[in-house]
Amino acid sequence: MAKQKSVYACTECGGQTLKWQGQCPHCQSWNTLIETVAEKQISRFSPVSETGLVQNLSEVEAQEETRYATGISELDRVLGGGLVRGGVVLLGGDPGIGKSTLLLQALSHMSGFQKVLYISGEESAQQVALRAKRLTLSVQAVPLFAEIQLEKIQAALSEHKPCVAVIDSIQTIYSEALQSAPGSVAQVRECAAQLTRLAKASGTAIILVGHVTKEGALAGPRVLEHMVDTVLYFEGDMHSSFRLVRAFKNRFGAVNELGVFAMGEKGLREVRNPSALFLSHHDGQVAGSCVMVTQEGTRPLLVEIQALVDEARSPHPRRLCVGLEQNRLAMLLAVLHRHAGVPCFDQDVFVNAVGGVKITEPGADLAILLAIVSSLKNKPLIEKMVVIGEIGLAGEVRPVQRGQERLKEAAKLGFTRAIIPLANKPKQAISGIEITAVGRISEAVAHMYG
Ligand SMILES: Nc1ncnc2c1ncn2[C@@H]1O[C@H](COP(=O)(O)OP(=O)(O)O)[C@@H](O)[C@H]1O
Ligand SMILES: [Mg+2]
Ligand SMILES: [Zn+2]
Repeated sequence: MAKQKSVYACTECGGQTLKWQGQCPHCQSWNTLIETVAEKQISRFSPVSETGLVQNLSEVEAQEETRYATGISELDRVLGGGLVRGGVVLLGGDPGIGKSTLLLQALSHMSGFQKVLYISGEESAQQVALRAKRLTLSVQAVPLFAEIQLEKIQAALSEHKPCVAVIDSIQTIYSEALQSAPGSVAQVRECAAQLTRLAKASGTAIILVGHVTKEGALAGPRVLEHMVDTVLYFEGDMHSSFRLVRAFKNRFGAVNELGVFAMGEKGLREVRNPSALFLSHHDGQVAGSCVMVTQEGTRPLLVEIQALVDEARSPHPRRLCVGLEQNRLAMLLAVLHRHAGVPCFDQDVFVNAVGGVKITEPGADLAILLAIVSSLKNKPLIEKMVVIGEIGLAGEVRPVQRGQERLKEAAKLGFTRAIIPLANKPKQAISGIEITAVGRISEAVAHMYG
């Protein structure tokens, strides 16, 4: 008998190598390559277009896509206005963060207007029913199919023709056509590809649930990102009740929109005015705290940045960021030294964005630096102040997008002072907030105490 060929597939990106390596050569992740049986290439794919003809674009009927509102406005916001007919959404997140809860709530809402189908490969019908009962959801019109075999799921979808179907989760589904185990890269990809084809052909909007796994035993949702139309990820600190749903990719809407929820007894509750969510409530000002206004999609959010600067006990001082970009901190500290004369080379520096929010925009730079200076000097910033601005290597303070909106939101929440980049200086005063526009980091440091 011929020896079965094996390959090593990355659970993060799906890339393959012939030999085992510690690091995936495709995406540079560590310890993500696992041995799998090489699948025989089978041609099961027909083209997306039925005709196979080259068409003139102007003659192709261009219809606006039909949208189904989920009834949960925070979810509709990240989707770009609801689910799209024939669209495929991947909802990723850590186990236990609330994916099944959110989708059951959405299906319960939608079942009043549309035909829906919940396919559960993870939980039994009884478990799902129990959850619905606990969340007091009306589920008379939510049919459930507890199945993990792709071919049976395809048959059920073709028979029931729902407008919206949820597959919870894609990592539990397997296809008979492949030998590898459910959850392997090959299975997850094949099942998602077949379901995507079915969605396009039938018009059913499909939501795939994908677990993010650290262990690498299951293929991560990343291997599917390029296949689907929309990628949403659940974020949030498991210790707090707030949950964020962020769009990472969206063929039908803007990315970086943020949906904000609070997890409670009755499931996920929408938070309509989240702008003040990421502020901690101190009695009076404390050293090492600086509030910034970040822009998430179309919505400004106020976030408190906290820094702790402490004399280093080792020759290699520590630099640690939570919720902010790690690599940027070293650069910011160098700029602070060279252009504002504040040295930190013998100090441990820890920086944290409050509430488990992740900030990826450089508009947080100035707030990070002022929080660090405040902690180093052990002197709080002046009260009710917000700070925005990106820092350049030459010590300049660069503008941020939508500066006006951010300032207005801060004023609305009772902030009375702001340090902002010179180029963001509004032409007209914004009522209730006194603005200091600065061009350089040294000027910002000079104004942080009033
Ligand atoms: N029986 C229960 N009583 C109270 N809360 C529960 C119960 N079951 C689950 N939860 C809460 O709901 C959260 C979300 O669960 P779930 O939606 O199943 O997450 P996921 O599908 O993302 O793995 C859990 O982390 C837990 O806090
Ligand atoms: Mg679940
Ligand atoms: Zn990889």
